[in-house]
Amino acid sequence: MAENDLYTAPDLYDLLSDGVPGDVAWFSSQAKAAKSVLELAAGTGRVTIPMARAGAKVTAIELRERMLDAAAEKLAREKPEVRKRVELLVGDMRGFELKKQFPLIVIPFRAFQHLHAVADQRACLECCREHLTRQGRLVIDLFDPNLRILGANLDVNGRAARLFGEKPLGKDGRIVAMSSRVSCPEEQRFEETIVYEKFDAQGNSQWRRAHKIQLRYFFRYEMEHLFELSGLEVVKLEGGFKGQPFQHGGEQLWTVKRA
Ligand SMILES: C[S@@+](CC[C@H](N)C(=O)[O-])C[C@H]1O[C@@H](n2cnc3c(N)ncnc32)[C@H](O)[C@@H]1O
Repeated sequence: MAENDLYTAPDLYDLLSDGVPGDVAWFSSQAKAAKSVLELAAGTGRVTIPMARAGAKVTAIELRERMLDAAAEKLAREKPEVRKRVELLVGDMRGFELKKQFPLIVIPFRAFQHLHAVADQRACLECCREHLTRQGRLVIDLFDPNLRILGANLDVNGRAARLFGEKPLGKDGRIVAMSSRVSCPEEQRFEETIVYEKFDAQGNSQWRRAHKIQLRYFFRYEMEHLFELSGLEVVKLEGGFKGQPFQHGGEQLWTVKRA
């Protein structure tokens, strides 16, 4: 992993990665109903811990040890009954074998979009299929590629800059993050460089750090084909965590089961 990969910096990840509106409550209620859940690409436990608080047993797999260490630190501050419901495992969502099946598998916050190659996407979906009970559900959240945004403000090199986020820190000032994107439309992916800058209360810059992420985007019917190729059947496609219908440029919230 490159040293400037965003996931080497769980502190900065946590500062400005609030997920998709309503996702934590939605996954928590699904997990509560299922009682046992496998979460892939769990990161720093943003969704993991609330699902456990809701009463579910959670097995959480994450590729980067630093992200999982941050999850473990948060978990250590939870009540004993929550702590004992969570198992944190370093692992790769493209290949895992838990010798167990789950009524619910979740991949929140567009983490599946880190799988750039079709072989990796299929390996992950096939692995999920093997770990689903007969009636089990796999839930994957992706952003639907908004063609206007993907193509907006691009200069000749395909770059686009935007405000990524801002976090006030009270008397300690604030952190502002700007991102610039380099698109690679022929491969349906882009690389985003996020520059985090810390200002003191007087507005003086104290430090600046740059991190990168690369995301693949998926079109709706491409996902349908991928699911079918991987032995999965679509149960529903929603447009977000508030029951919205699917809309171009919104969320792709997929619920699928074994075909
Ligand atoms: C956008 S974050 C989502 C983290 C967490 N699920 C959340 O909602 O905050 C994506 C996560 O996917 C992880 N990841 C990327 N590729 C992975 C892989 N092949 N297997 C497991 N985790 C992976 C990254 O390390 C990162 O923690």
